[in-house]
Amino acid sequence: MTPQRRFPLGRLVFFVTSNIHKFNEARLVLAEHRVATALLRVKKVEVQDDSIENIAKASALDATKKYKLPIIVEDAGLFVKGLNGFPGPYSSHVYRTIGLEGILKLMGNVEKRDAYFQSVVAFCSSEELSKCFHGKVEGRISLEERGSSGFGFDPIFEPSASPNKTFAEMAMTEKNKYSHRAQALRKFVKWYTSNI
Ligand code: IMP
Repeated sequence: MTPQRRFPLGRLVFFVTSNIHKFNEARLVLAEHRVATALLRVKKVEVQDDSIENIAKASALDATKKYKLPIIVEDAGLFVKGLNGFPGPYSSHVYRTIGLEGILKLMGNVEKRDAYFQSVVAFCSSEELSKCFHGKVEGRISLEERGSSGFGFDPIFEPSASPNKTFAEMAMTEKNKYSHRAQALRKFVKWYTSNI
């Protein structure tokens, strides 16, 4: 008798996001492990919480309950050390309101430009209640916006591992070498493929 598979859909997971850049970054990382990513473009439940883990987990649990599929949700934030971790879990609101220009203005009198991105990938399925994977990339806030690739805060973030370029000056494959999201996704996909 063949043993029953833990995840019946095997090498296919559904990513709930409306951000096509995030989806494309994830698709490339999961493909490194021969896992296919499908885009599930449905409204995400967004709870207000100080923890990006709780935000991602709540959305993944809600989506799995509704669609009965193996689902990943990713939530990220930019934490600027000289601004005491701001904007952190409020990154999305801050991006939409004061934007990159606003962050650069706030940094005007701040000497310490160190910052990091944090990412949480929450996986949920009917077989696995919820499991979270974390990624973090250290870097600096640049003095000005540079580059046109990527999205969000990419034009003002220089990762420490490649300090002369912002994420927005990198191709997606290069950003994926360093990014918070790629790190969290690699942890997820390693766990997932060893449990299929
Ligand atoms: P979200 O809630 O995970 O979509 O992200 C919060 C905010 O951080 C949004 O404004 C995103 O544009 C921004 N953000 C998330 N990940 C990245 C990234 O990889 N690069 C640049 N900005 C990002």
